[in-house]
Amino acid sequence: MFSLAAPHAKGKSAEDNIFAANNRAIALAEKIGNDQVINGTVGSILDEDGNLVVLDVVKNAFKELTPKEICAYAPIQGYRKFLDDCIDQCFGESRPEGYIDACSTPGGTGVLHHVIHNYSEVGDEVLITDWHWGAYDSLIDDNNRKVRSFSFLTEDGHFNTSAFRDAVTDILSRQDNIVIILNGIANNPTGYCMSVDEWQAAVDVLKEATKGGDKNAILVPDVAYLDYSGEKQECRKFFKVFGGLPKNILVVCAYTLSKGFTMYGQRMGAMIGITSDKDVIKEFVDINQYSSRATWSNCNSAAQNAMIRICEDPEKIKELDADRAQYFRLIQERAAIFMKEAKEEGVKFVPYISGFFITIPVTNSQAVCDDLEKQHVFLVPLKKGIRLAVCSVSKAKMEGLAHKLALAIKVAGAKQ
Ligand SMILES: Cc1ncc(COP(=O)(O)O)c(C=O)c1O
Repeated sequence: MFSLAAPHAKGKSAEDNIFAANNRAIALAEKIGNDQVINGTVGSILDEDGNLVVLDVVKNAFKELTPKEICAYAPIQGYRKFLDDCIDQCFGESRPEGYIDACSTPGGTGVLHHVIHNYSEVGDEVLITDWHWGAYDSLIDDNNRKVRSFSFLTEDGHFNTSAFRDAVTDILSRQDNIVIILNGIANNPTGYCMSVDEWQAAVDVLKEATKGGDKNAILVPDVAYLDYSGEKQECRKFFKVFGGLPKNILVVCAYTLSKGFTMYGQRMGAMIGITSDKDVIKEFVDINQYSSRATWSNCNSAAQNAMIRICEDPEKIKELDADRAQYFRLIQERAAIFMKEAKEEGVKFVPYISGFFITIPVTNSQAVCDDLEKQHVFLVPLKKGIRLAVCSVSKAKMEGLAHKLALAIKVAGAKQ
């Protein structure tokens, strides 16, 4: 193929199998009717009629914005009020001890880009879990770093501290900095949630591995689905674990408005740094602001101002919390239908606690999904399983889905 691309860019292409399956599902639904198609690919909340949910309080906040609030350039770091609101909304009553500051980013994706770019070197390994969101691979690869993964869960379905320790120790035997992305809350694709003790165990591993003082750890809790992971204050308790850490451990929360505020396409989020050291927090803002200037420049003003308007009114926050709680319950109900039927059908799934997705571990996932598509069911094949978006499949359509899956697994000769 004739190519003009520079060596590092040659051969790359973004063929996203999730969006591709989604497009096929939409095309089929247009042809034969929405009620005939089960689209379990989409990572957005759809209501029981299949419509995208946009929280009312968010819709109203957008309607109230002035042209200036929509169109003016925002400061590169982000509006101060917006950043403070992100910090408050992220931590709730569990704000960790230490210096905390934030930089605006286009969603959680922007956070991950900057952390990889600014805290690891070209050629370094970046540590992620074996069950992970596919975009991590591209974010790491496109920055010319290498993906290294460890087994997220033990056989009996808990955080695998020992696999985590082994990977951290090994990487730090060769690198000065280790960047770890840990989507430990309402994990995509499994729905697993690490307990406070498990987060503590992860942090203890990092403390031990860096205690000599000549190595540094940058832990990135990816909290994209935080707002649908449990009761508001209860599910935030783990943030306390990140307080009072040694100065060579920096925690950067990947906070996003995509899910919690249903602002997916607005591309708005924030990287929130937590450290016990004044210089580290200053450097955090300086270097990430610099990278923002050098990549996307300023972020979306309208989305930041919509959040500011919501957060300055306690009544609106109450409404936001109530709406989210309602969708959290709906997703739990959908997941419960699937899990009950899956158990009856003998279909195994990775321990699900909360969040947008359930994972069915299986070999030959592509063949299983191909067979399901013949029955108008669209799911996402992963390397080691199949992802079902419980956020987007109605309760009615969830009924019988485990049975279809059991049959497709049989037809494809796949093993669990
Ligand atoms: C695990 C995980 N992290 C982060 C994100 C960030 O998404 P966004 O950049 O839209 O905020 C997503 C979105 O699907 C996700 O699944």
